[in-house]
Amino acid sequence: MNNIPPNSLLAVPTGALQIPELIELPVGASSENILFSLVIPTYKERDNIKNVVTILSQILDESIPFEYELIVVDDDSPDGTWEFAQSLTPEYPQLRVMRRQNERGLSSAVIRGWQAARGRILGVIDGDLQHPPEVLTQLLRVISEGADLAVASRHVEGGGVSSWSFVRRLLSRGAQLLGLVILPGVLGRVSDPMSGYFMVRRSSLAGVTLNPVGYKILLEVIGRGEVRSIAEVGYVFCERKQGESKVTSKQYLDYIHHLVRLRLSTGRLGKISQNISFPVDRFVRFGLVGLSGVFVDMTLLYLLSDPTTLALPLTRSKIITGEIAIINNFLWNDAWTFADVSTRQQEWRQRLKRFLKFNIICLAGLVLNVLVLNLVFNFIIPNRYIANLIAIAAATVWNFWVNLKLSWRVTQVK
Ligand code: GDD
Ligand code: MN
Repeated sequence: MNNIPPNSLLAVPTGALQIPELIELPVGASSENILFSLVIPTYKERDNIKNVVTILSQILDESIPFEYELIVVDDDSPDGTWEFAQSLTPEYPQLRVMRRQNERGLSSAVIRGWQAARGRILGVIDGDLQHPPEVLTQLLRVISEGADLAVASRHVEGGGVSSWSFVRRLLSRGAQLLGLVILPGVLGRVSDPMSGYFMVRRSSLAGVTLNPVGYKILLEVIGRGEVRSIAEVGYVFCERKQGESKVTSKQYLDYIHHLVRLRLSTGRLGKISQNISFPVDRFVRFGLVGLSGVFVDMTLLYLLSDPTTLALPLTRSKIITGEIAIINNFLWNDAWTFADVSTRQQEWRQRLKRFLKFNIICLAGLVLNVLVLNLVFNFIIPNRYIANLIAIAAATVWNFWVNLKLSWRVTQVK
């Protein structure tokens, strides 16, 4: 490990996303433990990276000389960000670069960087200068004053966004509110849970296996880490000057997926689901697909049966929309929820078989839905909406479990 030539790329850690304890290295070893490791995840940031490295180095050389490292984790950007960053290392000896070729995604990039880090404090900052670098020293200070986690926040004093439209602010706050409902124990602890600019003590994360989806790595750190005290420092999220944002609508879906996964795998629910080894992740995806089906069903029902549109009879409309929703759900489940199974069984006959099974199981689910609804409403809780929710939950679990066992049965063929 200690004989790596100074100009080579960092090796990409593999296996579980787990941060190791800091191993005490002998004084004088060619690599030594340091105070602070700052990860800069990048994708197509060639026009930014030099500026970022220069400014960060200036600030850190002044406040903690030789006690820090910058780790660029680039996902094999087609613009050669990793190569360009690597060419800066002779000039900036604190800089190390990792080029990932087999994995993708912001959150896992950050964790891979931390896994290779030597610092007692682990940090992350965007590689596009939207996070003002001068806030770093304040974040370091609140950690040295005792915080386990220091978060740069847009929503405390001194914080803000530069010129976001009303719609963008609304979306951002809506996402936060949704998170607060699903995961109050995590989102409720910070004013800006979406922040991608923070630092955390290694001791709060060491030994914990992280399992993020998408962009919001801070949720993972608070949700799974041993974070006792949190401090926040205000910052203004600047506009991008070079390159472009990588955020797409998929990130919103990832975010919800991440929230639900954390909800089900941490705390009391997590203990239960671990004991019965329930495939939480798949179930979350199945549930999200189910929601998309409700949306399809509702929209089509309006188009077919509303008096202002086609005005078809209700039952006939519902049979059509229900079947289309089932087809919708099947396609998504086949391509996403059970992708690992379906890619191994791609023949159209196999697909058709899965579809028919799915269809029959979902129809049985509908029958179960009606039965449970009546049972609960008549004998247990005389409120039709609560009874319906319980019935939907029962049918969803049924649909998921039976489809898991029958439609997308994992047959072990080598
Ligand atoms: N390695 C890697 N892999 N880096 C990535 C990836 C990826 O798949 N996707 C994005 N990045 C890098 C970008 O190059 C940039 O340095 C940083 O991650 C943030 O990505 P942006 O696409 O610029 O995100 P943004 O500015 O729209 O969103 C930011 O919004 C939050 C505030 O709400 C996020 O970066 C958050 O970190 C930030 O706090
Ligand atoms: Mn950005």
